[in-house]
Formats: sequence, structure tokens, C-alpha cells
Amino acid sequence: MSNLAVSYAGPGKVELIDTPYPEFELKDGPGVNPANVGRKVPHGVILRTVATNICGSDQHMVRGRTTAPEGLVLGHEITGEVVEVGPDVEFLKVGDMVSVPFNISCGRCRNCKEGQTGICLNVNPDRPGSAYGYVDMGGWVGGQAEYVLVPYADWNALKFPDRDQALEKILDLTMLSDIFPTGFHGAVGAGVTVGSTVYVAGAGPVGLAAATSAQLLGAAVVIVGDLNADRLAQARSFGCETIDVSLGDPKDQIEQLLGVPEVDCAIDAVGFEARGHGHGAASEQPATVLNSMMDITRAGGSIGIPGLYVTGDPGAVDEAAKVGSLSMSFGLGWAKSHTFVTGQCPVMKYHRGLMQAILNDKVSIAKNVNATAIPLSEAPQGYAAFDEGAAQKFVLDPHGMIRR
Ligand SMILES: NC(=O)c1ccc[n+]([C@@H]2O[C@H](COP(=O)([O-])OP(=O)(O)OC[C@H]3O[C@@H](n4cnc5c(N)ncnc54)[C@H](O)[C@@H]3O)[C@@H](O)[C@H]2O)c1
Ligand SMILES: [Zn+2]
Ligand SMILES: [Zn+2]
Repeated sequence: MSNLAVSYAGPGKVELIDTPYPEFELKDGPGVNPANVGRKVPHGVILRTVATNICGSDQHMVRGRTTAPEGLVLGHEITGEVVEVGPDVEFLKVGDMVSVPFNISCGRCRNCKEGQTGICLNVNPDRPGSAYGYVDMGGWVGGQAEYVLVPYADWNALKFPDRDQALEKILDLTMLSDIFPTGFHGAVGAGVTVGSTVYVAGAGPVGLAAATSAQLLGAAVVIVGDLNADRLAQARSFGCETIDVSLGDPKDQIEQLLGVPEVDCAIDAVGFEARGHGHGAASEQPATVLNSMMDITRAGGSIGIPGLYVTGDPGAVDEAAKVGSLSMSFGLGWAKSHTFVTGQCPVMKYHRGLMQAILNDKVSIAKNVNATAIPLSEAPQGYAAFDEGAAQKFVLDPHGMIRR
């Protein structure tokens, strides 16, 4: 059986390719760590992919801003239906509909036992932490495909209570694999609680998910900054205040909105491809958001940093940034006793609660991020539109199971 999949085809290009149908073993292929080749996965399930989303994290690779090899099958945001279970799977059954955390974790190591599933020690020979379809993440094959292998499946997968209900709310539930928990983790990391004032940098899907999460946690005011007018309009559509950072430093606009030039909590949903503020918005300045968060967050506050920072960036603006070394005013954050919460979101910490919020109509994450389903075959167009800054979260629908 074949398995149509979306692969990275060099800077600015993705293409659909035929790949082998998954087996319960990790086979050699582009981006597969040699130490992972031949790894047996009896604890895995094979999913028919029901929904798999395009992410800003994919864009870093597709823009040629990482060392991802050509031919890498993309896709770490996976929701699907179990079609085969491995011999060591105890609880999942064929026919179950599940959400898969984008981080792969073993459930057995010290970090997993402490709930830090974003830095599992056993799934990636390169470094702690792993994900499907991602550079330097061990080589687990991506899920922007008709079928995908999910290891340690009893542990990783979140089963939806009811198949029909899941299909009904699939555009919301598909956000549980990454951006909704990631945005929520950003808000929790920033210390958002009832009555907080919050600044979210970035109105991409992660920023909008963080803003939604801040509202869910009871924030008094949520301000979203970006330089993309359509994305700012999307943030206003569900009650956020907005700031156009191309007009100047967010600090002044925050003062106009709040009467003071600071917020209780700040969330960086931009990452290392950040543009400068004001006139600087024309060019990339990777430490802009980090520095501005230290400037505008109250002394004693926390800064949630879901935005991705890398250890190697071939397209960086200078030599230091090429090895991930940024010009940060760390002394300012130190002087203000700031807490920084970084890294991959440990999705499992949040996905069950957020699923319940969705199933009981307490939150409209699909509407807030403007979830838009497209066929798998239109992935190249989806990537291009997302790269141009469309105010949409593209959801690939490989089997035509999403009602439009
Ligand atoms: N930590 C995690 O677990 C995790 C999970 C998912 C995504 N991410 C990362 O989160 C980030 C956001 O993801 P996304 O899908 O929303 O990406 P995206 O590229 O769609 O959104 C980023 C937005 O930031 C805006 N921006 C650029 N410079 C800015 C500035 N100085 N101030 C305010 N806005 C600015 C851009 O215009 C864009 O709209 C990415 O870096 C992604 O890799 C991290
Ligand atoms: Zn993602
Ligand atoms: Zn582990």
C-alpha cells in the first residue's frame, strides 16, 4: 500500500511524494538518526490521518532556516483513527479516534516521569526531545501523510470519547496536537491568571492560541502585537486589543491602552525569525521580542516563550545568530527578577483539559485561529499562503473526512 505524504524539497518548496506505508519499525530515510534506524516499535499504532496541520515550526524548515534534509516528510500536528495496533499496545483499539502530542515521549524516563514530555530522554539520540517530521528530532516520520506511525501509543495518544462527536468538532480538536496546548503553556508560563494584563507577541496561530488561552484563564486585557494587519484583525475578532509593531515599540502603544507602559505577563509567540519594531520591522532582528518582553513585563513577572529559538540557523542575519547566539539584554531581565519559561510545550500536561473545554463548548479555538481545511494534495498552496502571512491555520484533510 502506498502512503502519499508532504515532503520538504529544498528552500521554499514542498511536494507530494509516495512513501512506504508505515511498519512497526523505524526505517532509514531523510533525517533519520542512524542510531534510530531499525528501531522496533511494537508499542506503536498506525493511524489513518484525519487532520494534520501546517505550523510555523514547519515554515522555519521550509524557508531553509534549519539543517532539514530534502525529502524529509513533514507534519507533527496529527489527529487520526487507529487502523493497526502493535503487539505491545494494551489499551488502544482499532477504530479509536485520537489526538497525538507533537512531542514523542517514552513515558519511562526521568523527564517523562516528571511530566516534561517535551524533553524525553529516550526517543531522540541527538538530544532530549523529539517530534514527528522535524529536523534533529530523531527521524520519526511526519504525519502530513495518509498514514503515520505513533510510538509508545498507549502513553502518547489522547483518545476522544466519541467518534461522531470528534468528527463534528474536528477543526477544534485538531488544535490539541500542538498550538492550543502550546499557547496555553505560554500563558501558564507567563503566570496569566484572573485579572492579568497580557501582551502576546505574534498573531500567528500560536499567538492567537495563546491569546485564547489567556482569556480562558481569566485575563483582564489581552493585547496582541504583530505587523500583519489581517492577523491583527483576526485577534480583534475575538476580543483582543491589538498593536501594530511596525508603527513603533509596543511599549508606547501598551501605555496608550493600559495607562502604564507595562503588563503583568508576556508571551513570545514569534521566535527567532522576529522582525524589528518601528522602522526595524523591515528587517529581521532575532532578539527583538525577547528584549522588548523584558522591557515591558513588570518586575517579578514571568515571560512565556513558546516561540522557537534554534542552535543553528544557516539563514541568520549575522555569524553569532548562525549558531543561535543572540544579542539579549539579559541584565534587564535579571534586574527585574524575571522568570523565563522556554522550550517545547509538554502537550500532555494540558491536552485532556483543553479537549474537555472544547467538547463542552467553553472555547472556540478553531474559529479564533480561523482553521481552514484543505485536501492533502493542496498542501503546497497551503504552505505558500501561510508563508505569505494568511490569517488562517491550514488543516490538511488526507481522506476527505472533514466536513466543509
Ligand atoms: N514551543 C513549542 O512547543 C512550539 C510549538 C509550536 C510552535 N512553536 C513556535 O511558535 C512560533 C509561532 O508559531 P506560528 O505557527 O504562530 O508561526 P507564524 O510564523 O505563523 O507566526 C509568527 C508571527 O509573528 C509575527 N512577528 C514577527 N516579528 C514580530 C514582532 N517583532 N512582534 C510581533 N509579531 C511579530 C509574524 O508577522 C507572524 O505573524 C514559531 O516560532 C513556532 O516554531 C513552538
Ligand atoms: Zn506545530
Ligand atoms: Zn521519556
